[in-house]
Parts: sequence; structure tokens; C-alpha cells
Amino acid sequence: MHTLHTALNRFNNAHLSFPPFARALHEIDGLLQMYRETGLAENLLILGESGTGKTTLCQAVIQQHPRRALQERDWLPVLYIPIPPAATIAGVTEAMLSKLGDPAPGKGTISAKTARVFKLARGCGVELILLDEAQHIQDRGQLPTQYMVGDWLKGMADEIGVPTVLLGLPRVDSLLRVNEQLRRRFTRRLCMNLGQNEGSSIETECFQLFASLIPSLPVPLRFGNYDWEEFGQRLYYATDGRIAYVKSLLSAALRWVVQRNLEAITPEELEAAFACEIWSAGIGALNPFNEKFEFRPLTRAGEPFERGIPGMPLKGGKRHVAA
Ligand SMILES: Nc1ncnc2c1ncn2[C@@H]1O[C@H](COP(=O)(O)OP(=O)(O)OP(=O)(O)O)[C@@H](O)[C@H]1O
Ligand SMILES: [Mg+2]
Repeated sequence: MHTLHTALNRFNNAHLSFPPFARALHEIDGLLQMYRETGLAENLLILGESGTGKTTLCQAVIQQHPRRALQERDWLPVLYIPIPPAATIAGVTEAMLSKLGDPAPGKGTISAKTARVFKLARGCGVELILLDEAQHIQDRGQLPTQYMVGDWLKGMADEIGVPTVLLGLPRVDSLLRVNEQLRRRFTRRLCMNLGQNEGSSIETECFQLFASLIPSLPVPLRFGNYDWEEFGQRLYYATDGRIAYVKSLLSAALRWVVQRNLEAITPEELEAAFACEIWSAGIGALNPFNEKFEFRPLTRAGEPFERGIPGMPLKGGKRHVAA
């Protein structure tokens, strides 16, 4: 049990640099460098389905530029704000104030709070703002509210005058469609999905992502009757090319192998892991690691990668929750 625990921990904590992740990190670094050298604040929009690594990307940026406690105040180069589910202006302002160390984030009118955000952001030396979960603004439903929050964000980013990165699900695009001023500020955009390299297919990238996890596995992996191309295809259909699903698939297969004292992970274990961890109805022709698999994306209604669903369903109606 101890071995399993250590192996799973090591596996779960492995941080990978797959192409969209590395590209996004590089772009954000570029924004920061440009701001430091010229004072110019450029913005970036990063879109990606649930589990493609947006929040992990933010954590990586924060790790590179951590908060430092100075004698008289905290130094906070990166201000990371996950937009709260009920994305009201008051809610976003309060989230920002508490990150900035305001002793009473809920106190005062919205304009008083907003003024405190500006003052504290300057005082803490904020050089970059990361606004995660931007779809929560769009989920507010009514256009006037979306518009108001969007406008407030735009004003806030302009006033603080540092680069701002907006991250969220692909439907954030519609938010920008209704708010022209916000759209104008976020013309640069990146997508966290695999398969954007002209030189390689999405299945190849998916396989490479999977392969980069193999060294941290304590048991060998066997492809069974499949060559790596077919294996890559099956893997892509099983995970939609999202890192979160690639990891949970392997992690479940690993648990399965260790608990049963098996020697290796094979397509058989991956088949069981898919049904157990990703989609309980994924049996037979609907399981990418089954011989009878239909070879089609599992994106139809009720399937695990149905498009446009806020938070992907996992087994038993569970939804993927960011770590
Ligand atoms: N670069 C990475 N290396 C290793 N694991 C990663 C990486 N990026 C993401 N993961 C894994 O995938 C999981 C989901 O990632 P994350 O929460 O960042 O996705 P997200 O795009 O923010 O999803 P959501 O839209 O649901 O918030 C993480 O818990 C982590 O286990
Ligand atoms: Mg997230």
C-alpha cells in the first residue's frame, strides 16, 4: 500500500511541459518582460476546455514569481484571481482585495473598494494580473450584467496598467463578442487544446503527452496489439487530449495494476480505468480501449466530452473539478 501511495503521489505531482502549456508560459513571460522593459501593458486571452491545464498554468507562473514578504508590506508581482461563480462586480473586487491583503475586503461601496484595489495593487508592486474562470462572467446569463462586469474589468485593467491574462472555457469568446471594448483589449489569444502544431497530429501530441508520463510510472506499460499510432488514436478518443483525463486514466490503471499485483499496464487495464474513472457507460464499442471501439469522438449528448457543458461529467455524474 505504501508503494502504491508513493507511486501515485509521485505520478500525480509530476509537472509536464506539453506544447500548448509551454507556449502559454512563454507568452506570459513575454508580456511580463515587455512590461518591465517598456511599461507597455499587453493582454492575452487563454481559452481551453475543462482540464486542459489553465489553472495549473497560473500556478506555474506564480511559482516563477512568488509573493515576497518585505518588512513594510507584501510584494506581489502576480495577482491571481479566480472569478467567483456569482461574478458580481462586488464579488470580484472583494476577491481582489483579499488577495491584496486588505484587512476588510467586504467593507465600503463598490467605488471605494475599487479605489482600494488600485492603491493596493500599486503598493504591492503587481506586474501581472491573471483572471481565471472568466466563464463565470458569461454564466451570469443576462447581457447587461455581463456587460457591466466586463466593463468594470476593462476599466480596472486600464487603471492598474499592467498586463492582464484572461483565462476560461472556450465560451468566453461569446462574452468578448458582446463587449467590444473588452474584445479590443484581448485580441491576442491562445488555446490550451492539443493539436495546434502543423507538423504533428493531435493523436501524436496526445501520445507524446502520455509518453512523458511513463517514466514516472513504477510499472512498465505495454501497448498490446496496437502500434503506437493506433494506441495514440485510442488514447485521444479516451481523453479528448486533455491532460487532466490523461492523468486520471493512467492513475486509475496504475491503482488497478498495483492492487491486483499485475506486472504491467496494458490496454486491458486502460479499458477498465476508462470505465471506472472517465465514463461509467463507456463499455464495449463505447470504450476506446475495447477491440470493438467505434473510433469516433465521444462528444454526442450524454457522452463524456459533449461540447459546451460547464465542467465535464466524470463517472456517476461527478464533474471534473480543478485541483
Ligand atoms: N502541466 C501539467 N503537468 C501535469 N499535470 C497537469 C498539468 N496541467 C494540468 N495538469 C493536471 O490536470 C488537472 C486539471 O488541470 P487544471 O485544473 O489546471 O485544468 P483547467 O483547465 O484549469 O480546468 P477547469 O477549466 O475545469 O478549471 C490538474 O489537477 C493536474 O493534475
Ligand atoms: Mg481551472
